[in-house]
Amino acid sequence: MSDHPTTYVPQSALAKWFESRLPVMGLLHSSFVAFPVPRNLNYFWTFGAVLFFMLISQIVTGIVLAMHYTPHADYAFQSVEHIMRDVNYGWLLRYLHANGASMFFVAVYIHIFRGLYYGSYKAPREVLWILGVIILLLMMATAFMGYVLPWGQMSFWGATVITNLFSAIPVVGEGIVHFLWGGFSVGNPTLNRFFSLHYLLPFMILGVAMLHVWALHVPGNNNPTGVPIKSGKDAVPFHPYMTVKDAFSLVLFLILFSWFVFYMPNYLGHADNYIPANPSVTPAHIVPEWYFLPFYAILRAIPDKLGGVIAMFASIAILAFLPWLDTSKVRSAAYRPLYRIFSWVFVLCAIGLGYLGAMPAEGGYVIASRLLTAYYFAHFLIIIPLLGLFETPKPLPNSIVESVLGKAGSGSGLPTGAAAEPQTKG
Ligand code: HEM
Repeated sequence: MSDHPTTYVPQSALAKWFESRLPVMGLLHSSFVAFPVPRNLNYFWTFGAVLFFMLISQIVTGIVLAMHYTPHADYAFQSVEHIMRDVNYGWLLRYLHANGASMFFVAVYIHIFRGLYYGSYKAPREVLWILGVIILLLMMATAFMGYVLPWGQMSFWGATVITNLFSAIPVVGEGIVHFLWGGFSVGNPTLNRFFSLHYLLPFMILGVAMLHVWALHVPGNNNPTGVPIKSGKDAVPFHPYMTVKDAFSLVLFLILFSWFVFYMPNYLGHADNYIPANPSVTPAHIVPEWYFLPFYAILRAIPDKLGGVIAMFASIAILAFLPWLDTSKVRSAAYRPLYRIFSWVFVLCAIGLGYLGAMPAEGGYVIASRLLTAYYFAHFLIIIPLLGLFETPKPLPNSIVESVLGKAGSGSGLPTGAAAEPQTKG
């Protein structure tokens, strides 16, 4: 995945023999050991590694769960209870998988925010960014179908509400919905196809994530200054600098993950999903998982069904156009005083939409959802394009090393303060 010539030297005769036929170790070495990374990457840059860990964790726990799960409308709910009660460590597997989905979204939203804040989507990283948007869509589809599998009340009614959205599409809408259902309502064929796709999609995510890293390794990492690597002094090898940083971040992340799994495993779920699916009893409030709430709020903010569906999909698709909507010459929010403020306002807007997505669609909640939906789109379509034209950025450092060590230090190799101060006291 790296364009850089490898410095890997196979040690044994067998390794030499193998490497000359399939240079996979050289590829890994140049991509994850010797790969030059900017020396100023902060902890926001560790979430890609966290995401890879979570993806693998979801795949492994999912495969074992599938050994005990029965994808049939009459048995699915019971088979999940069987996993929880009878299968050795089945409760752990299920809680890891269910909470793992939430943690995966925590990590991906932080990862996306990092990209937005530091302008990582801008040229030459557009393809990398768009691959990320594709991953996000695949993750959403996977999580939605996974939530249907326990076949509880929220599974059933969530699937009914979301699949019904497609009926808003003129002419072909009804046909599409029946095709998705495999019948005339959400039922056993729906559960079967969702299970099959829920198993398949994570492997597609893995494939796209590999392309994502490949597309990253062509231009190399962005960094908190947004200034590209100009000389060898600006960069350090990936190992041990990033491997240690990634590992430390992962440990902290796993503590948070474990806290959910072991102390509040059902906190992020909905109590109604412990009631078996019942097509004749509609729950009082049908709410999706927390990570879908902002998009659900956008869906319900628009009075017209088709309009709501379009707005919801557009709220994600618009990310793909960001590299061309942003007119600023400067990448990082660190040097863009106004964009920095608007980035945080955008986070508040997304949290506000999340809150409103969990509230009933009535009265003041609807009005607030409409205002925040309008703001969400204005952020991308009005604020970002105009900021690039009118904002006065702060002066950029000449190089990464200058931003880290200061002007004087970039020459001496010492931090500015350190160069000026005596090295010993007294
Ligand atoms: C399964 C999900 C994903 C995985 C495994 C993944 C993996 C990675 C990894 C390993 C990196 C390099 C390390 C880092 O910068 O953290 C990276 C960088 C990046 N990712 Fe992702 N990613 C995922 C999803 C996304 C999504 C959804 C987006 C955006 C919509 C995105 C956008 C980016 C960008 C722009 C960079 C370059 C960062 C920079 O150098 O500034 N990624 N990704």
